[in-house]
Amino acid sequence: MFLRRVLFGLPAAALLALPAAAERDLSVEAAIARVKRALTFHRVTDASPSEIALGRRLFFDRRLSVNGKMSCADCHRASRHFGDGLPRALGRDGKPVARNTPSLLNAAYYSDLFWDGRAATIEEASLTALQNPREMAQPLPPVIKRLAGIPVYASAFAGVYPGTGVSSTTLGRALGAYVLTVASREDSAFDRFILEDVPLSTSALSGFLVFVHKANCANCHNSRNLAYPQRYQNIGLAPQGAEDLGRYAVDPQPGMRGAFRSTVLRNVELTAPYMHDGRFATLAEVIDFYDRGGDGTRFQSSEIKPLHLTVQEKADLTAFLLSMTSSRGPEETP
Ligand code: HEC
Ligand code: HEC
Repeated sequence: MFLRRVLFGLPAAALLALPAAAERDLSVEAAIARVKRALTFHRVTDASPSEIALGRRLFFDRRLSVNGKMSCADCHRASRHFGDGLPRALGRDGKPVARNTPSLLNAAYYSDLFWDGRAATIEEASLTALQNPREMAQPLPPVIKRLAGIPVYASAFAGVYPGTGVSSTTLGRALGAYVLTVASREDSAFDRFILEDVPLSTSALSGFLVFVHKANCANCHNSRNLAYPQRYQNIGLAPQGAEDLGRYAVDPQPGMRGAFRSTVLRNVELTAPYMHDGRFATLAEVIDFYDRGGDGTRFQSSEIKPLHLTVQEKADLTAFLLSMTSSRGPEETP
């Protein structure tokens, strides 16, 4: 075994069951057992192959958008890990929308969807994306009528949803069924370390400890993204252009202004650029931002403070983040 005991600062809520004295001195085995439970939490699909195939067809079909020029896959591009690689998505008018396109690889891991968590399910988020005036701008009644008039869809919907056929509910269900299948694989080096005891590189292991302890990243980024009581945080990104109120628009409470959902960091290596507005092109820029304690903005969370990481610690933290990259799914190899 690599180390017998480590200082391990798991998310506060994960530790509630432990006596206070044990909080920062868990055995590696106990710590891993906790991470293991957290890691296996994601929504799995119980959809049939024909429902998933229908959702896939819809996802790639530009006839879903109001002008017939945009499909879900134009922003959530399979070849780009279901993101678009742009700081902010380009809307149907070709102009950037307010936010970055999240990779759908991690959508199955979230209990709230969108950067501000305004949708409760993937199905709801998919229908919201379809109707968003800046995105596909497609009101539901006409698209349902249009799909019902396309023979291949009429028969596919009737086969998958007997008695209902094409409706807003079944459209959302089919899209959601497909989106759930693109969830990231759980076979990264970090997964294998946690689940199968395959050793991590020394640098990634040191970075894991920096992540959970000195830099306290795990306080907000626990892989489950459920346990932490206030998952929406303003991390102190200086506003660029018009202020994005973030979670405050959904939940107007103190502390929510400029707060965004803390992200699942699986496959973060593949999903640049970073943050809700895609302002950082590299992980090095992200780490430097946290290291300097954010931009010191008015509504910044008190948890974001200067970290004083050494060059080595930054390198280790990066190695740890890269250890969360999983293998590609079949959808991603065009
Ligand atoms: C114009 C680009 C664009 C198109 C087209 C688009 N999306 Fe998105 N998608 C985005 C952006 C940007 C966000 C984040 C929006 C926000 O948080 O306010 C997003 C978020 C999502 C999310 C939530 C992901 C998460 O991590 O919370 C899902 C699910 C989703 N889109 C599915 C779809 C589906 C299904 C379609 C097709 C019906 C679609 N999108 C079409 C840009 C797009
Ligand atoms: C106080 C909570 C908090 C802490 C501590 C924290 N983060 Fe974050 N992190 C967030 C939130 C919230 C976001 C989304 C912010 C936004 O886009 O406005 C985020 C975004 C990110 C992103 C961008 C993800 C993406 O897909 O765009 C990365 C990478 C990241 N954090 C890594 C880290 C690392 C590494 C640490 C430790 C050095 C850390 N975080 C510490 C809350 C936190």
